[in-house]
Amino acid sequence: MIDLEEILKNLEIDEKDRENIRMLLPVIQNYGYEIIDEVVKVLSKDPEVVKILQEDNLPVSKARDAWFYWLKTLFSSEFDKEFVRKLSHIGQVHVDANVKESIVIQTTSLFLMKTLDKLLSLELDNFTELSKSVIKLFSLSLVIMVNSYRKELIGSFLEFTGLKEDLFNREIKMQRKKRREEKPG
Ligand code: HEM
Repeated sequence: MIDLEEILKNLEIDEKDRENIRMLLPVIQNYGYEIIDEVVKVLSKDPEVVKILQEDNLPVSKARDAWFYWLKTLFSSEFDKEFVRKLSHIGQVHVDANVKESIVIQTTSLFLMKTLDKLLSLELDNFTELSKSVIKLFSLSLVIMVNSYRKELIGSFLEFTGLKEDLFNREIKMQRKKRREEKPG
């Protein structure tokens, strides 16, 4: 279960970040598709990505719209339960479509880079401060989307083995402790 408050605290997302992100929504509305096209340029060189899109019959035009929807969701976020629900759903769609977790991580990093490139090109006064808020925002998106992979993996394992979740967590902790104790030096 995602503890949104804890993640917001750990990523140090505060009122100033929320304000910065809200301020950037018009930039995303104006340049979102431009940013997406920069990402598509890179992704289209990756045979694994191209294969998944073809197999899932997801034309680039539909993927572009899906990414634009995600960007708008991020930049108009109220950082509430609904935001977590939307991003968890997007994460789950990729789990179900067999898109590897590493591809989602890679793509989020690309989006972050290309968004920062765009902001830099706009020569905004407070670029450094804005970019910090943007980095936090994309990190938050990633934490929530990646959690869908973890949830599915653990859920399938528990269903398959019939293990209870608390027992499983206890066992994992014990194994970690053992490994740390066995570590040389
Ligand atoms: C930052 C990374 C990504 C984000 C935020 C994202 C976002 C989305 C969104 C918003 C949807 C629509 C979800 C829905 O139906 O409600 C979607 C669907 C999908 N995405 Fe992505 N995507 C990402 C990366 C990728 C990549 C790299 C691939 C290809 C390898 C991919 C393949 C798919 C597929 C196959 C679907 C399902 C299409 C369908 O069955 O309708 N996604 N994505």
